[in-house]
Amino acid sequence: MVFPNQARAARVAASKETVRQGWVGRVHARGKWHAKNVIHTRALTTAILEAAGIRPGMNVLDVAAGTGDPAIALARLVGTRGHVTVTDLVSEMLEAAEGEAKRYKLTNVSFKQADAESLPFDDNCFDAVTCRLGIMFFPHPVQALREMRRILKPGGRAALVTWGPPARNLRTTTTLAVLRKFLERQASQRNFRKSDGNRFAFAGTLAEALGEAGFRKPWAESRTVQIPWPGSPEDCWERVRDASGGAQLLGQIAEEDRAEAVRKVLTALAVYHDGKQVSLQVDIVVGSGIS
Ligand SMILES: C[S@@+](CC[C@H](N)C(=O)[O-])C[C@H]1O[C@@H](n2cnc3c(N)ncnc32)[C@H](O)[C@@H]1O
Repeated sequence: MVFPNQARAARVAASKETVRQGWVGRVHARGKWHAKNVIHTRALTTAILEAAGIRPGMNVLDVAAGTGDPAIALARLVGTRGHVTVTDLVSEMLEAAEGEAKRYKLTNVSFKQADAESLPFDDNCFDAVTCRLGIMFFPHPVQALREMRRILKPGGRAALVTWGPPARNLRTTTTLAVLRKFLERQASQRNFRKSDGNRFAFAGTLAEALGEAGFRKPWAESRTVQIPWPGSPEDCWERVRDASGGAQLLGQIAEEDRAEAVRKVLTALAVYHDGKQVSLQVDIVVGSGIS
């Protein structure tokens, strides 16, 4: 006999595994483009380091760390007296992050596979927790925020960065939005899922979630920042295709239209290319709360 709790746990585990598999498929591309992505998202790193008030000597947890950006920047800033625990649901992401840490010969980092909604750490043990471009993908973001608050020392700060509205993201309007137009032409409806990248596109929703999770002084604001892609429109598109969901969208477009769709993406990106970089701009949401 299967009890309701067991059935529920099995459903949760199955949905986590689906999410995990989705990210596993992007590990290779994320590793491949890691170095360029560090430059591309530097403004987001600056924003989260500032919002978390990171200082030398701190003990920091980075949640949903991906291939190690901004975890490496955190580790360099906290220095050898500090420590950064790098976590992600997907252990394959952490293998790539570990490679990056070795490249910088960092000795103040450790890695642990961890679901943000159930962090495997004691209460009150970190000075700060960071989560860049992660929270919008968690099915239960307030639960993840509660976990962040639980593991923080009293007075410790959680800081988060999310993408702003897709219409204010030049990387999206030049790539994924172009593909979506093809899909609309095919009359196939696409609704944003709750766990997609736009969930916290407005500052109010992030501040509200921080408050609901019990943080003091929940705060969030929108900012417009530059995210230059340090390369050609072609490799920017390849990064979005293989690491940010472009391939899935392209796959939904009728086969005979795909080459034309990609041509349109490259034309849209080329408008912002000056021969050296694709000068993209985006709105982000930066938020923080105190434990
Ligand atoms: C867009 S990437 C962000 C990576 C990195 N923080 C950055 O800013 O580039 C999102 C990350 O969230 C991770 N992730 C998704 N669901 C998660 C969960 N429930 N718990 C922890 N990590 C999760 C994915 O494996 C992926 O590495």
